[in-house]
Amino acid sequence: MDISSLQFKQKSLRQTVIDALSFIGIKDFSDFDLKKEYFNNPERGIHDPRHLYRVMIATALIAQKLNEPRRGLLAFCGAFIHDQARNNNGSDPGHGPRASETKWNLHSAIWKKYELTPDEQDYVRSAVSLHCSRHDCGFKVDNLVKQILHDADSFDRCRSYHTEARLNWEYLSLPQLKDKSGHKLLNLLIGETEAVWCFTKDVASYISFKDLLENIR
Ligand SMILES: [Fe+2]
Ligand SMILES: [Fe+2]
Repeated sequence: MDISSLQFKQKSLRQTVIDALSFIGIKDFSDFDLKKEYFNNPERGIHDPRHLYRVMIATALIAQKLNEPRRGLLAFCGAFIHDQARNNNGSDPGHGPRASETKWNLHSAIWKKYELTPDEQDYVRSAVSLHCSRHDCGFKVDNLVKQILHDADSFDRCRSYHTEARLNWEYLSLPQLKDKSGHKLLNLLIGETEAVWCFTKDVASYISFKDLLENIR
């Protein structure tokens, strides 16, 4: 077998991402286009749609590796709204609870299309609230949904603040990644999410989800 046939067999990063999105049950990329009017602070910055899209992608990549499709979808839904209610790009510790309270009804058509049960809606809303605060806002908590969203955000956040920074494992909450036996998985995710960041960091802020995915090679 020569090198060219080996390269041919290797799956592209874009295909890896699309497979992960399909694994968690995303039906149509346009369901999750991020529009300017969704954001309290629509300025270009480190929490603009490109960050949210990358966190969404990371939830799918994590969920596929953990073989957790439905919880992955719930974390993905959380990623879609988690920073929409930020009032600025700095310290805004109330933005998680604010998003789970004020952005939920804005996207009710999505929750209906993906048939989120009342309990599942609670899991998404508590995960969004808890991603940056200690408040679950009275919504039922699912630990895994919360951890997938939290860790997906951490994979991108370290790069948004410090472009050279590698992920510090202490930022992570999933025992499957923090444990020594999870180092292989963690390194794979660091490589994938870092590459997704490189391909998407300079695209337009308010790009469609499909077009952002087109930029990943
Ligand atoms: Fe946040
Ligand atoms: Fe975030």
